[in-house]
Amino acid sequence: MKTVVRLMLPLAVMLIQLGFTAGLASAAVTGDCVNCHTMHNSQNGQAVADHNGTTLTSAQVNLLNSDCLGCHTDATQTIAMIGTGNQSRVPIVLTTSEPTYPPNGSSNSVLAAGNFYWVAQGDDTKGHNVFGLRGNTFAANVDSNLSAAPGNAQPTGSGSVCRNCHGTLATEISGCKGCHFAAHHVDDGPGNVVTGQGDGWYRFLSGAQMLAAVNPGGSSRDALLAQAGVVGVEDANWEQDPTSHNTYKGATGFTSAGFGSVNGNSIGLYCTGCHSRFHHSMGGADDGLQNASGAWIRHPSDVVLPGAGTEYANYNYTALAPVAYETIDSTGAGTTALVTCISCHRPHGSPYPDMLRWDYSGCVANAVNTECGCFACHTSKDGVVP
Ligand code: HEC
Ligand code: HEC
Ligand code: HEC
Ligand code: HEC
Ligand code: HEC
Ligand code: HEC
Ligand code: HEC
Repeated sequence: MKTVVRLMLPLAVMLIQLGFTAGLASAAVTGDCVNCHTMHNSQNGQAVADHNGTTLTSAQVNLLNSDCLGCHTDATQTIAMIGTGNQSRVPIVLTTSEPTYPPNGSSNSVLAAGNFYWVAQGDDTKGHNVFGLRGNTFAANVDSNLSAAPGNAQPTGSGSVCRNCHGTLATEISGCKGCHFAAHHVDDGPGNVVTGQGDGWYRFLSGAQMLAAVNPGGSSRDALLAQAGVVGVEDANWEQDPTSHNTYKGATGFTSAGFGSVNGNSIGLYCTGCHSRFHHSMGGADDGLQNASGAWIRHPSDVVLPGAGTEYANYNYTALAPVAYETIDSTGAGTTALVTCISCHRPHGSPYPDMLRWDYSGCVANAVNTECGCFACHTSKDGVVP
């Protein structure tokens, strides 16, 4: 999109845009239709292009003037303004220069999900390998280490449609759409508990796209539309400044696999969709479906932090290692904290291997390190009993 805008706009207008910062609460898309839509896939005789300026091979659905990354990429800013008249405010997931990490409120601080910069630069371990990051071919984007989502329990043979998403996100029908089922015009913003496809769920995180690809128009797809998505309260600035934050719904229902598992509407159960065993097989025997009664055999996720008298009682909410809550309200307050997948990982990517939120190699037992997220919960393992 930015490429398209640049082709169309005089430099002076671009400079005005750069100086423009909006403080509006984000919600459904705003701004002139022309910022985002093209009526005939043609402008000055040219079809729309991706974020690299490469003309896309086909016109986009919904008459969009670029693909997902076309709008969600910028050189430096992580919240960018597009358009010339009534502008639109876009959260950026890929910057083409290195963004600030961890975020500190600067205009190039990574947003809550992290940033695809590091994986786009070629390090497969530092993010999800998503279609489009390194050009528009499977070969350029595929992860060289992982042939499927670790922990995945679904078919990923090369002939299987399920390989899209469950096996790799480097194909055109998966990519961003493997995780997000977009609903830009109905998206609810801050001050609401976002709860359904009607308000775009939390950050458009919904399993509905899965059956759209596999089972178009099927009744089970409609059932998923109604119930399978993430619930949460959205920070207006996507945590560019982490002093205000998102609030995530958690749930302790991790005892069974299958579509029913999405009913908890938790962000951890969402990751489960493709990393099943990392979530369903955390306690007891390693046979796929266990509960929390046994000894831990994988780090717990969607498990309540033990309370008074334990080291966890000293946890204080931090964007370094956030928690989800069993119940949340529209003010962003939550009760009953749970550890979850994104307590430790950034879903898009980070500067660290396994897209971890912090430098794990700096986590040394019995040595104080305020940048190590493990100590946010394991408060006595740094050797200092609080
Ligand atoms: C900031 C970008 C942006 C602006 C401005 C915008 N749209 Fe959209 N629109 C989108 C995106 C992205 C989609 C893709 C589908 C989705 O997410 O629902 C979309 C989808 C649509 C759709 C199909 C899906 C639906 O919700 O019905 C229609 C129709 C539409 N837009 C019309 C408009 C009109 C008319 C305007 C101006 C009054 C407008 N849009 C302004 C980004 C925008
Ligand atoms: C034409 C520009 C445009 C395109 C194309 C576009 N987006 Fe967006 N997107 C926006 C804008 C503007 C916003 C901010 C407004 C909002 O919160 O909905 C946004 C917001 C989002 C958000 C955050 C929603 C929230 O709750 O804050 C997600 C997730 C997202 N887009 C994903 C996608 C995906 C996936 C695609 C491709 C299928 C896509 N976008 C295509 C312009 C676009
Ligand atoms: C377009 C991407 C995509 C495709 C293609 C896809 N899936 Fe999924 N699948 C997902 C996502 C995303 C989730 C998580 C859904 C959620 O929690 O909202 C999921 C979740 C699941 C779950 C629940 C897993 C659990 O442990 O809770 C099953 C079962 C599943 N998919 C089976 C399949 C099968 C079988 C196919 C092929 C016929 C398939 N999927 C194709 C994206 C996809
Ligand atoms: C593996 C699943 C996954 C994939 C693939 C993915 N996202 Fe996301 N995305 C998420 C999650 C989870 C969040 C919410 C993070 C949070 O709030 O902590 C998110 C948040 C966002 C946001 C809001 C800004 C933020 O950082 O919170 C935007 C915009 C977005 N995604 C767009 C995209 C685009 C564009 C793509 C493709 C280039 C993409 N996503 C691919 C899982 C994914
Ligand atoms: C739609 C399917 C899907 C969903 C949902 C999903 N992942 Fe993944 N994930 C994959 C695939 C495929 C791979 C292996 C290839 C790659 O790295 O892209 C992967 C790899 C990873 C890796 C290893 C990265 C590396 O390259 O070493 C981590 C860590 C990870 N995912 C965490 C998460 C977290 C946390 C969530 C929830 C926010 C999540 N995933 C949701 C499909 C998914
Ligand atoms: C307590 C922190 C923590 C939590 C919670 C956590 N992870 Fe991890 N994860 C890590 C660390 C650290 C690594 C890499 C080093 C290791 O395995 O010890 C990792 C590695 C991974 C990998 C790469 C595995 C491979 O084979 O390369 C994936 C995928 C992954 N995690 C997904 C998830 C998912 C999905 C969840 C939620 C069900 C989750 N993680 C919860 C800390 C965590
Ligand atoms: C958001 C909080 C949180 C973070 C961050 C976190 N943990 Fe945990 N961890 C927990 C909880 C909760 C348990 C389970 C406590 C229980 O029920 O016994 C746990 C359990 C464990 C266990 C197993 C303990 C046992 O009794 O068998 C180990 C080992 C562990 N964590 C290591 C780590 C490491 C290493 C890191 C950093 C990569 C980390 N944790 C980050 C909350 C956290």
